[in-house]
Amino acid sequence: MHTATLIQDYRLPPERVPQTVVETLARDERDECIRRIKRLLQEQDAALVAHYYTDADLQLLADETGGHVSDSLDMARFGYEADAQTLIVCGVRFMGETAKILNPEKRVLMPDLNADCSLDLGCPADEFGRFCAQYPDHTVVVYANTSAAVKARADWMVTSGSAVDVVKHLVATGEKIIWAPDKYLGEYVQAQAGAEMILWQGSCIVHEEFKGKELAELKRRHPRAKVLVHPESPASVIEQADVVSSTTGIIKAAGELDADTFIVATDKGIFYKMKQAAPDKRFIEAPTAGKGATCKSCGHCPWMAMNSLTKLLATLESGNNEIFVDAAIIERAKAPIKRLLDFAGQRKQLIYGNNDA
Ligand code: 13P
Ligand code: SF4
Repeated sequence: MHTATLIQDYRLPPERVPQTVVETLARDERDECIRRIKRLLQEQDAALVAHYYTDADLQLLADETGGHVSDSLDMARFGYEADAQTLIVCGVRFMGETAKILNPEKRVLMPDLNADCSLDLGCPADEFGRFCAQYPDHTVVVYANTSAAVKARADWMVTSGSAVDVVKHLVATGEKIIWAPDKYLGEYVQAQAGAEMILWQGSCIVHEEFKGKELAELKRRHPRAKVLVHPESPASVIEQADVVSSTTGIIKAAGELDADTFIVATDKGIFYKMKQAAPDKRFIEAPTAGKGATCKSCGHCPWMAMNSLTKLLATLESGNNEIFVDAAIIERAKAPIKRLLDFAGQRKQLIYGNNDA
């Protein structure tokens, strides 16, 4: 039995969550946009790095232009190793900041600088600093979904695909741990790693909407379906999963597991790659809300959806939307990120293979 110290609730209030708006373009307009983006990427020696939750056309563009589509750990690694002098990060702000921290000499652009994350917004650096100061003998572990300033206060950065292994490693070396900001992921990691951590009480507004009761009902209607869950989801959803994993792990599971139907509890942007990995299989969205509940994101992150073809084109044309991070913050935030990349590099097999529930 693990206990968590209860602190203030940092769930983002609904009025701070934008409505999810997905861009739709006429066929000609879309094709023209893609053609111009490809030309500008080449002219500017720019590499496109996209998260699995972004628009399928952005993922297609990244794949077709020598860029990269992946989870947050691998986005960071790709940016770090890429030769391109400009990185265009299609994802959310912390992903752009991480790219800049690892590559301060490169130009890092994003289609929309308002593309935030509820976990990042729910963990203000000054309050987090005061929180950490209460536990001076603890190792500070922060999820990638945090600002550069919060990472600058951390000992380790982790991602969903690496958190359990990092925390197991810290438990084995006898560390006391502070975890921020996602309480659900924190609770999951505690249980998997046999750790007791002081948990910041943040949450992802997208994954928090997946509902355990409705999922159980859906499972009854599809008894042979396997359930794939991202660990930012509540425990009532995680406990019904066949696989709990990062976005990369979820896509891999769709291709590898012996099932023809999957219920998926994560952002629906991931279906594009899941269908590529398993074209003959069926994917069903996990239920996001019970009757009467208000669902603003409906399984699709409003901030990820801010990345669009037209905004990407405008960014490449104007050079606007560059990510800047204060040099002193870069200096301090680099260590926890590099620590993870080195750790993950040594344990690649573990990180992509061992997170099943
Ligand atoms: P992954 O690292 O698993 O891609 O998760 C990032 C994220 O923001 C999930 O909501
Ligand atoms: Fe943040 Fe949730 Fe969006 Fe991921 S899905 S970027 S955790 S708000």
